[in-house]
Amino acid sequence: MAVTPEQRMREAGERVVEVIARQEWLNPWGYKLEHAMAVGWNLLGGRRDRVRNVLHGTWLGHPLHPMLTDVPLGAWTMAFAFDCLDVRSREHAHFAPAAQMALGVGIVGGAGAALTGLTDWQYTHDDARRTGLVHGMLNLTALGLSVWSWSRRRTQRDGPSRLASGLGYALALGSAFLGGNLVFRERIGVDRTEHPLEPREFVPVLFESELVDERPQHVRAGDADVILVRSGGRLYAYGEHCPHLGAPLSDGWLSDGGIVCPWHGARFELSTGSTVKGPATSRLTRFETCVRDGRIEVRLLAPEHEAVPRTTARQR
Ligand code: FES
Repeated sequence: MAVTPEQRMREAGERVVEVIARQEWLNPWGYKLEHAMAVGWNLLGGRRDRVRNVLHGTWLGHPLHPMLTDVPLGAWTMAFAFDCLDVRSREHAHFAPAAQMALGVGIVGGAGAALTGLTDWQYTHDDARRTGLVHGMLNLTALGLSVWSWSRRRTQRDGPSRLASGLGYALALGSAFLGGNLVFRERIGVDRTEHPLEPREFVPVLFESELVDERPQHVRAGDADVILVRSGGRLYAYGEHCPHLGAPLSDGWLSDGGIVCPWHGARFELSTGSTVKGPATSRLTRFETCVRDGRIEVRLLAPEHEAVPRTTARQR
């Protein structure tokens, strides 16, 4: 059967991603960068977690990086279009300043995207880490070319300045393909916690006497993986997996009124499941609890109760 152009294009894209993901010589550079970042974070002292929460998008309940990447891509598209118009119709003096302004907006947005992307990249592994490193390098090169072009345009309106920003734009588009791969294939930034539809009715999951106070315990509620926690005499139940990269929260621990993820230290408020410390951005799936005949029962929290988090789980 004849191979269609779409198939050829798709296979070429997959091959590029595979080749990049296999570049193990990038690993030592990744570790060095990660260590340098750790030093930088520590220099922030007590503000470290707050700054990281802002950059991850924990305050927003959504990763910040993908939102910011739209700014340089959109602005640089405009800059490219204005440059084309400027070349075609020299008599219109307003296209060149418009291109420069769009380039500047893209540079500001690109700097924000670089910072947030780097913060998220720190917690990736293996293929995602190597792909993320190349994605970041391409974007930084695009940003550097745009900065050079912007500063040159302050004094000259010539071919090299347009060529540099055009090249930067092309690199940013290529890099966006890798960014899409990181989200849609590697699931970086995707909410990994489970969102089951069941159980809608209470199901018994554990004898009350088997639950150790202040320690998350994994149970099955129908097909759903759930953690149970009893703290201060109250029962709480949440989805087992961390929204960040899916760590088992039953291996985590309680601290400062929250459940701490064992992999990267995200913290979720015990009473509501809201994320109070990144890198996670989404909240935990919540379940209601009750105790009947000495057995703990759980069911999915009805959606109408999700909008206003309840601070206590249902008790006997
Ligand atoms: S898996 Fe990364 S914070 Fe939980």
